Amino acid sequence: MTQNIQTLKSELASMIEAANDLDSLEQARINALGKKGRITDLMKTLGGMSPEERKTTGQALNDLKDEIAALIRTQEDALKKQAMDQRLATETLDITLSPRPERKGHIHPISQTMEELVTIFADMGFTVAEGPDIEDDWHNFTALNFPPGHPAREMQDTFFLPEDPDEQELYAKKLLRTHTSSVQIRHMKENKPPIRIIVMGRTYRSDYDMTHTPMFHQIEGLVIDEHIHMGHLKGCLRDFCEAYFEVDDLPMQFRPSFFPFTEPSAEVDIGCSRKDGGLTIGAGEDWLEILGCGMVHPNVLKNCGIDPEKYQGFAFGMGIERIAMLKYGIPDLRTFFESDTRWLDHYGFAPQSRPNRALKD
Ligand code: PHE
Repeated sequence: MTQNIQTLKSELASMIEAANDLDSLEQARINALGKKGRITDLMKTLGGMSPEERKTTGQALNDLKDEIAALIRTQEDALKKQAMDQRLATETLDITLSPRPERKGHIHPISQTMEELVTIFADMGFTVAEGPDIEDDWHNFTALNFPPGHPAREMQDTFFLPEDPDEQELYAKKLLRTHTSSVQIRHMKENKPPIRIIVMGRTYRSDYDMTHTPMFHQIEGLVIDEHIHMGHLKGCLRDFCEAYFEVDDLPMQFRPSFFPFTEPSAEVDIGCSRKDGGLTIGAGEDWLEILGCGMVHPNVLKNCGIDPEKYQGFAFGMGIERIAMLKYGIPDLRTFFESDTRWLDHYGFAPQSRPNRALKD
């Protein structure tokens, strides 16, 4: 019997050692210690033995059981460690490797410019107001002092929309707003002076060439208070232009002009120089027109229920694409709306970039 146990022990031990994965190790365990296993079988023979023999054999079998169980545990640990080592070897993650340059999204120059505009004007105490793209003839023209049938209405190649039969007669003639000045009217009707707002948004005119697209963006400024005069307008626009174009002592000229909703009206030019086909904003031999402005016409104030004897104000408006093109050297307006990712990769801004510096102290 002792001989048998020794043989069985070495047989089982080599089976356990030969098990090279957890499944075959489990197989070996069942083979040795399972209900119908080899050691269990031997245990069953104990009943037929003499008490003396049973004692020694029983002891020997119990020892064998413990030894085999220990061998299985050792082998199991070894196999688990081996499996883990293998995983660690194949799943290495080199955290010192720099990331691949993935394709990045960019901020469109229009969005970037709008952020810059808000930053600068917020610094001067302006808040942002909004109005609808689908306007009516009254807010877009009549209230802004365009007389009925006046050719000035045709100056802006308006997209007219079908009349809205459900609307009050005054507001029934619908159109796509030709300028953000319509929001001046909406804001003055809803708010009492003092007023200091900018309005940014889409505007629409039927026109298409290198410097015109049927949809473009404008920014409008409106300031209404007591004792506001042209000096305030000039100071505000000077501070704005120097901050936006990042040029100190930027030459500016205010040229007399005409808008039905301002009196007097002016167009503003900034200095620039054109050398070797380039364009530089700042002191130079040439001028660039960048915006329209003026003192709000008394009729406009009256149309909005504001007493022109008590309040005055100024307004200005400019094309956002135009000032973006000038600052960032973008030659063709149409490319803004072509959704060409190569263009956006070139002229766009990093998602984390911040608007340029605001006003000087
Ligand atoms: N609304 C004018 C335009 O679109 C610009 C402007 C706004 C002029 C405010 C004067 C005052 O051309």
